[in-house]
Amino acid sequence: MSTELHLTQQEGFEKFKHAYRAAIKGVRIKIEILSEDFAVRHDYNPIHHLERRLKSTDSIEEKLQRLGKEITLDSAKKNIHDIAGIRVVCNFIDDVYTVADMLLGQNDIRLVEKKDYIEHPKQNGYRSLHLVVSVPVFLLDGCEDVLVEIQLRTVAMDFWASLEHQLRYKNEKHHSPMVDLELKACAEINSALDKRMQGLFDELNSME
Ligand code: GTP
Ligand code: MG
Repeated sequence: MSTELHLTQQEGFEKFKHAYRAAIKGVRIKIEILSEDFAVRHDYNPIHHLERRLKSTDSIEEKLQRLGKEITLDSAKKNIHDIAGIRVVCNFIDDVYTVADMLLGQNDIRLVEKKDYIEHPKQNGYRSLHLVVSVPVFLLDGCEDVLVEIQLRTVAMDFWASLEHQLRYKNEKHHSPMVDLELKACAEINSALDKRMQGLFDELNSME
């Protein structure tokens, strides 16, 4: 296939997009059913809220270019693991692992990659659990395995990540090491807060 063509002009583009949309829907519904089942059994829903996004075609092309890969649909499927993205924002740290374990326990979900930035935070203080899973999607012409990136984090981690994301662009222009240090310090305060909140939750649960 010609690499001159944009992805949108290539044969099979609509099906490609549809498969990722369907995968997002499938994984979202799985997570919702599991967390509702958990809520029925434990009288507590571990999920605060859920977000989802399909990577734009421009971003897919830009990332392929950056990676030095061919601009084709097959190359995108193989090289880009976050075309389909789901973010699960949980209440407490333990909920992140509860939701991840429930999902990975399903036998049609295959774990492709796991990065635990809670256990091993990034240098800048970023924390989240990242999973890339492969999920079967049943279409008219058969079943296809599709990759979905799932980011799981607490409300506090989400708060830090979204503000850091906003500040990053400004700091990239006039880079200040002081800002890096301050952001990291905020991440540490945030993490301490998450641990104290988890402690409160455990304390109250043990009294029941
Ligand atoms: P890309 O997927 O190309 O970004 O590279 P990677 O696979 O090495 O990245 P990783 O799995 O570590 O992170 C992927 C996604 O996590 C990003 O697109 C962001 O949504 C989120 N993320 C990772 N690091 C940071 C960070 O330092 N700050 C914020 N706000 N988000 C981050
Ligand atoms: Mg990634």
